Amino acid sequence: MRFTVAIDGPAAAGKGTISRAVAARFGFAHLDTGALYRAVGVKGGDPVEAARALCPADLARDDLRTGAAGQAASKVAAIPEVRAALVQFQREFARREGGAVLDGRDIGTVICPDAEVKLFVTASPEVRAHRRWQELGGDEREVLADVRERDARDMGRADAPLRPADDALVLDTTDMSVEAAVAAACDLIEARLG
Ligand code: CDP
Repeated sequence: MRFTVAIDGPAAAGKGTISRAVAARFGFAHLDTGALYRAVGVKGGDPVEAARALCPADLARDDLRTGAAGQAASKVAAIPEVRAALVQFQREFARREGGAVLDGRDIGTVICPDAEVKLFVTASPEVRAHRRWQELGGDEREVLADVRERDARDMGRADAPLRPADDALVLDTTDMSVEAAVAAACDLIEARLG
């Protein structure tokens, strides 16, 4: 059985939480595609070379979730050759036997335009910054500035900009609990699975 769930959206919208819950509920494999760009961003050196040579050890680093790694990721993610180097791995993961959930920015638009289910998860910048601040700490105003800067870069880039696919269900989680968002995602998948 091949079944792809594409979950896209801006920084700290709740994509990871929803993806992990959906993967556990349906027994699908989960790929956090942001981790690929974070790993390239923190590796240093030539980002195109880093993307081409990415290996499991790069993805196992414990500093991938920092604010600095997020900023570095969004910078290297604007380089077309970096994105191109990561396409095949993501597409193969998406079509693996047993179903897959991929979360990122361009899954429903570029990586898996034929995904069986597409979600675009968003929330106000303030709510997203608050969630990220609860996760990472620091100065909440700086976290908000960081979120806005990354959103602008991700939406403004020429290659695979962040935007909802035409056929994506948009879930605005500004006033929605995690449980409600997960339930909405599961309902959609169940309907599609039949
Ligand atoms: O967890 P958070 O939403 O903050 O970020 P992430 O999903 O780990 O992604 C980090 C950065 O990688 C994003 O700001 C994007 O610039 C980039 N990215 C991308 O361009 N395409 C993807 N499919 C996933 C991430």
